[in-house]
Amino acid sequence: MFEDMIKSIDETLAKLLKPVYPERIYDAMGYSVMAGGKRLRPLLMLLAYKAVGGDENDTRIMKTACALEMIHTYSLIHDDLPAMDNDDLRRGKPTCHKQFDEATAILAGDGLLTYAFQVMLEDETGKYEPKYTRAAFELARLSGMSGMLVGQAVDVESEGRQIDAKTLDFIHKNKTGGLIKAALMAGGIIGGADEKTIKLLEEIGEDVGLAFQIKDDILDVTSTTEVLGKPVFSDEKNQKVTYVSLYGLEKAQSDYAALSESAIKKAEKLGEKAKPLCDYLKSLTDRIK
Ligand code: IPE
Ligand code: IPE
Ligand code: MG
Ligand code: MG
Ligand code: MG
Repeated sequence: MFEDMIKSIDETLAKLLKPVYPERIYDAMGYSVMAGGKRLRPLLMLLAYKAVGGDENDTRIMKTACALEMIHTYSLIHDDLPAMDNDDLRRGKPTCHKQFDEATAILAGDGLLTYAFQVMLEDETGKYEPKYTRAAFELARLSGMSGMLVGQAVDVESEGRQIDAKTLDFIHKNKTGGLIKAALMAGGIIGGADEKTIKLLEEIGEDVGLAFQIKDDILDVTSTTEVLGKPVFSDEKNQKVTYVSLYGLEKAQSDYAALSESAIKKAEKLGEKAKPLCDYLKSLTDRIK
């Protein structure tokens, strides 16, 4: 079931990123987006939408989900730049700045971010329904000044410094939690959920977001480049305080399990239609990449 959804996501992304003039920028954007990845964020959006009973015939939800994957991919392209984590491998391929060049990688990231909002706000019917505007607002906020961007900013300024638990919590909740929370909330908003349900989706996103980055920190020291498709020990190389370096592997693993469990419990409260979302969250608990 998730394979079919991933296939639809990939097909929509490929259509949206079909190169036209000037091809090089489309090529770079498409190169990083189509290199693969787990498609976690668009899947979460589609599953949240289903969970609240969203209209199956609405094609805009798929475009919005793909737009979020573009924002995520932009964050990866910029995260890998020499000025940031300086990594050479992503999704099993040379990073965008290695395959193309730095200027192209910066522009590809900028392109994906701005194109994402164009895609999610485009309305062929001319109705411009408020629910899409609200979803776009949440995505903007949680990608930027109340989410991913500020998390990355504090992450970068903390390199080489012994930060405390509160700062690490801020980094993790924002740099990774932001987009994950946005995915679930936008799915709920576009699916027509009430305020209480949107709040519950936000809380699920908080748990999943923090859990996801804890696991990312664990995998950085326990996995291999072959499995992850990105370099291991990247955090140590960049002198980052991580969940593992601050609390140890054992606590990282038990906190990861507890947060995953908490997210699933909350998702179960959404009822029968949330079963696919619950199943997907369960499948994440033992992810190896
Ligand atoms: C990697 O995200 C960056 C983090 C926020 C931890 P993913 O682990 O979702 O990467 P892809 O999309 O599968 O490549
Ligand atoms: C990055 O965290 C989160 C982003 C917003 C891209 P990391 O720097 O740990 O992500 P990876 O390990 O390179 O995927
Ligand atoms: Mg980073
Ligand atoms: Mg990185
Ligand atoms: Mg990492």
